Amino acid sequence: MSGLSAALTINDLKQRARGRVPRMFFDYSESGSWTGSTFRANESDFEHIRFRQRVAVDMENRSLATTLVGQPASLPMAVGPAAICGLQVADGEVKAARAAEKFGIPFSLSTMSIGSIEDVAEATGKPFWFQLYMMRDKPFMERLIDRAKAAKCSALIMTMDLQILGQRHADIRNGLSAPPRLNLNSISQIVTRPGWAFGMLGAKRRTFSNVVGHAKDVDDLSSLSSWIAQQFDPRLNWKEVGWVKDRFGGPVIVKGVLDAEDAALAVSHGADAIVVSNHGGRQLDGAPSSIRVLPEIVDVVGKRTEVLTDGGIRSGQDLLKALALGARGVLIGRPVLYGLGAGGEAGVTRAFDIIRKETDTTMALLGERDIRNIGPHNIHSNDLLKRQGY
Ligand code: FNR
Ligand code: LAC
Repeated sequence: MSGLSAALTINDLKQRARGRVPRMFFDYSESGSWTGSTFRANESDFEHIRFRQRVAVDMENRSLATTLVGQPASLPMAVGPAAICGLQVADGEVKAARAAEKFGIPFSLSTMSIGSIEDVAEATGKPFWFQLYMMRDKPFMERLIDRAKAAKCSALIMTMDLQILGQRHADIRNGLSAPPRLNLNSISQIVTRPGWAFGMLGAKRRTFSNVVGHAKDVDDLSSLSSWIAQQFDPRLNWKEVGWVKDRFGGPVIVKGVLDAEDAALAVSHGADAIVVSNHGGRQLDGAPSSIRVLPEIVDVVGKRTEVLTDGGIRSGQDLLKALALGARGVLIGRPVLYGLGAGGEAGVTRAFDIIRKETDTTMALLGERDIRNIGPHNIHSNDLLKRQGY
């Protein structure tokens, strides 16, 4: 574990994961769609936001705790849903869920996970969030929601920005599939990652376990993209939020909102929380970064719903900037995948610890003791966003 404890930043974990995960899966997590402009902007736009430094403020007894969608959280952060965590490392979903439970933050499981809802429920003691992709097969959707309910999931996340897949060139070039199809290229990627391969030999699952054996006519998933094209329902619309809410009976978080009008529609259709998100820059290339649109969305719906955000959060400083611009909390996607690739459960814990320490120290340097007090007053008055009226 010496390698892991030497990781001081999320980027250190990313470099370690790059050397341990077969290229097709590392590339899958790393890429954005088409030119990658939105993917890069998610990270780089944080650099344009400047804090207001206050000094000589008693910084003893600091608190980072809050609640997210009614659930206590040791930090205003949750693990965002990510497909195929279980191919970044064997049993990746269970490992990430355990790390999140021990750390005291919510974990979200993707519909497109390798480990199933039931696997994660069995491996953890606290409720987690389940992310729902709407598919054409309605009876399957009903059963999926019922399974999430039976597993005592404390919220459903409805992802609204991926009924059709934005093109990620690397996945096409790598012939991404789950499990990997064996050919010269994939075998050479795997034999150069023996630790990964050895782990996979003992993995409980290697394909989409929420779906295979549960949905009709699906027993072989040739590629993620053709599977999405066949199964996902392109007719998804706002009315479905009410349908999901009625069937589930608990809080529904609407994810993938990047526009104030859509945010208002989500709330009027019953969203209990929204996630301002562009899917980590993996869908509409050319859309603004999440942090850039967050303030205008908070202005419109912030008093009526809980606003979370994700995209490009790689440090405690980024997390605090998102809170200062009005988010109640953030989701992290890739930092968890890097942690999984870098060192399984311990790697994810390392990612959480890095962000927590950065958050705590930076909050003290802002002159704040309670994370729930972070707000627009922590942004410098000469900041770019502030000058634009936020
Ligand atoms: C995702 N994301 C995602 N979202 C979702 O609702 N369901 C999913 O199955 C997935 N799958 C997925 C796979 C991978 C490899 C990535 C990187 C992302 C999007 C995810 O929840 C989140 O919105 C972004 O990852 C946030 O951006 P960062 O933190 O990765 O920059
Ligand atoms: C992604 C999906 C499946 O690859 O959410 O982004």
